[in-house]
Amino acid sequence: MCGIIGYSGESNAKDIIIDGLRALEYRGYDSAGLTVFENNRLRTVRTTGRVNSLNEKTAESIRGKQKCGIGHTRWATHGEPSERNAHPQGNDTLMLVHNGIIENNNELKENYIGKNYNFTSDTDTEVIAAVIEKEYKECGDRIQSIRKASERLRGSFALGIVFSDCPDTVFATRKDSPLIVGRSSHGNFIASDISAFRKHTDKYCRLNDYETAVISKNDIVIINREGRSLSPTWHTAESRNDSADIHGFRHFMLKEIYDEPEAMKKTFEAITDNGLPDFSKTVDDDFFRRINSIHITACGTAYHAGLLGGHFIEKLARIPVNVCVASEFRYNDPVTDKNDLVIIISQSGETADSLAALRLMNSRGIRTLSVVNAQGSSMENESDCIIRTHAGAEISVASTKAFHVQVLVLLMIAVKLALVNGKITEEYAKEILKEVQNDFTYNIPDILQRSNSILPVADRLSVHRNVFFIGRGRDSILATEASLKLKEISYINSQAYPAGELKHGTISLIEKGTPVIAVVTDSFFYDKMKSNIREVKARGACVISICHRNAKEITEISDEVILLPEETSSLMPFSASTVIQLLAYHTANALGRDIDKPRNLAKSVTVE
Ligand code: M6R
Repeated sequence: MCGIIGYSGESNAKDIIIDGLRALEYRGYDSAGLTVFENNRLRTVRTTGRVNSLNEKTAESIRGKQKCGIGHTRWATHGEPSERNAHPQGNDTLMLVHNGIIENNNELKENYIGKNYNFTSDTDTEVIAAVIEKEYKECGDRIQSIRKASERLRGSFALGIVFSDCPDTVFATRKDSPLIVGRSSHGNFIASDISAFRKHTDKYCRLNDYETAVISKNDIVIINREGRSLSPTWHTAESRNDSADIHGFRHFMLKEIYDEPEAMKKTFEAITDNGLPDFSKTVDDDFFRRINSIHITACGTAYHAGLLGGHFIEKLARIPVNVCVASEFRYNDPVTDKNDLVIIISQSGETADSLAALRLMNSRGIRTLSVVNAQGSSMENESDCIIRTHAGAEISVASTKAFHVQVLVLLMIAVKLALVNGKITEEYAKEILKEVQNDFTYNIPDILQRSNSILPVADRLSVHRNVFFIGRGRDSILATEASLKLKEISYINSQAYPAGELKHGTISLIEKGTPVIAVVTDSFFYDKMKSNIREVKARGACVISICHRNAKEITEISDEVILLPEETSSLMPFSASTVIQLLAYHTANALGRDIDKPRNLAKSVTVE
């Protein structure tokens, strides 16, 4: 979490930093701050709230010439969101911005820094500044003091540092939290990801754990853990597309739902050939052979994509799959075998728990394959194989189009596994792919065109405080994702249950008027779902069904229906998924919520 940018160059540092922080706000937005060298003296401004308030505050207070500085947008971990706890933090010697968590900060405070230091915040970040200052006073060398301090820190950190006696230079280091360096024609950058400086350059290099970068206007020096200078490996970022622009939509979330057909098409085209899955650009067919079992791990919505992936793989390829949230997987000591495959799914490629799960599997020598959307991420760098999704930038905290393309890739992996292991025919595989194409070419655009028909249902939902989602098979997984989406952006409490499970306890919560949203898109379960709908209706529930046009009886027994276009096979969750996202969106909108930046959340969860 938290976004970091640092700059040294010819342009106005404050403007570049504020602009970069706007691009990084998806990482956290409860407070923001910057430090710049103004006439060779450090000037720090911090504020609660968004980057816009930082902009207003600095417009009044920083007017002089400044060519170098660091900035930060925060998602609070240690200490409440407040001006006092916002970054940069520091002392007379240095100021720094920090992404990550220092686990031994109390220990360092008490046993290493001691009582004479006057701490002014509740952050673990201020402790880092105190440690670096102490080291600097002892050794008199800035780089050495950063390296020595880093060795004392336990936890994760990406740091951007400016020393008061070294104008126009930014220092940076990291461990387990991403940090990159960029070079442009007018100056050099550090940042937690490329979006912060992508406007200025496409050239970037990654900093590895415990490496230190020193950037000034004309120079970039990278030093390794042992103190030796390194020559950086430069990468070129993909060309910028316009997916980071809002294009007249009221919210990024809505715009990103409308991006779904295009994102699916791009992803589909990148991993298929002649109507069949083709991963040969990154993974050869042999990779998919001799697999005993598969583990899929991810967080949040990506985890739900993983549940669908597991469902597809077991159904088509008949290989056992264990799907587990990464925050549990990493500590479960999972049973693995050298012939297993581990699939990690992540939009950002930086989610701390997913990354830790990947590293654990790497350390055991188990095959790892990551499905990642963001280019240049840590996961991309550390996995055996990568399959990129092509959703473009996803700005809204709620994941929508990224989910669609993750599910698409996982379905293609399932088809590939089934083909190479002789479980399905090419003919059947081609049928599946044709259906996916139909979904993004016709069915999803059809739903998007009728998006307003969901408004009355959303209005009706918005007055309730408790909602249930039910479904069976694949639809039960969609119900779980629908519940997360609704909670995340509308703050309405909801629960998702496999429809057959309600009567084992939860049905006692149903009373007159309780909304129950039934996802009924798999005709295999129509009869079972009819019974489950009747059960909740008999107890007073108001049932809203998401079903196909031809599901007549479901329509008749429901209070409201949201109709999907033509009936598809049990492998196609895409249209229903668009509907549940729109339903969550319109409900949150009816409540006037801050949809793209829901309270307490951040887009990229880089702390565990
Ligand atoms: O970047 P990732 O895909 O690894 O992120 C995983 C989750 O944090 C993310 O999907 C989160 O659950 C979304 N905000 C849900 O809409």
